Amino acid sequence: MYPFFKYLHSGFRYIVLILVVAAIIQALLGWLGKKTYTESNRKLNLFALISAHTQLLIGLVLYFLSPLVQFSNATMKDATARYWTVEHLTMMIIAIVLITVGYSRSKKILLPEKKHANIFIFYLLAAIIVIVTLVLSHRGVLGMSV
Ligand code: HEM
Repeated sequence: MYPFFKYLHSGFRYIVLILVVAAIIQALLGWLGKKTYTESNRKLNLFALISAHTQLLIGLVLYFLSPLVQFSNATMKDATARYWTVEHLTMMIIAIVLITVGYSRSKKILLPEKKHANIFIFYLLAAIIVIVTLVLSHRGVLGMSV
């Protein structure tokens, strides 16, 4: 169970990153080019949101399987245990909340230009948090553990 969910979570990160980065580029081009907000724009933003939520669910399962997640008095003193028990989860949830808020705000905004700008800002902030958090894992943004 543990290896399966670890590799699933690890591999799924590429899907999340590709979709979020694609949505950011699309939003920037739409914003700067003053383009309309099309159905395919909305779908890409939605798929990026769904992928982030799926990663959250896989991560939650992994959280209860991983030997690196530890609840003891020593957890906060040990950098690796602290990272996997507290920091990874907290930072990733903040990033996923930003994507969720960005997507739901874009539904309420009327001007296409502002919809694109809103997606760009929220998804970019989320991507920065995800990338910084992965750098802090010492496994690399694109690297996998053995
Ligand atoms: C966009 C969100 C997320 C991304 C991109 C992400 C990405 C990753 C990556 C790349 C790894 C390392 C896998 C490897 O070394 O092969 C990892 C590990 C892990 N993630 Fe996430 N994660 C996300 C969200 C979450 C969330 C929300 C949780 C918990 C609820 C979580 C729990 C874990 C745990 C427990 C591990 C440690 C696995 C181990 O035992 O080595 N992740 N994550």
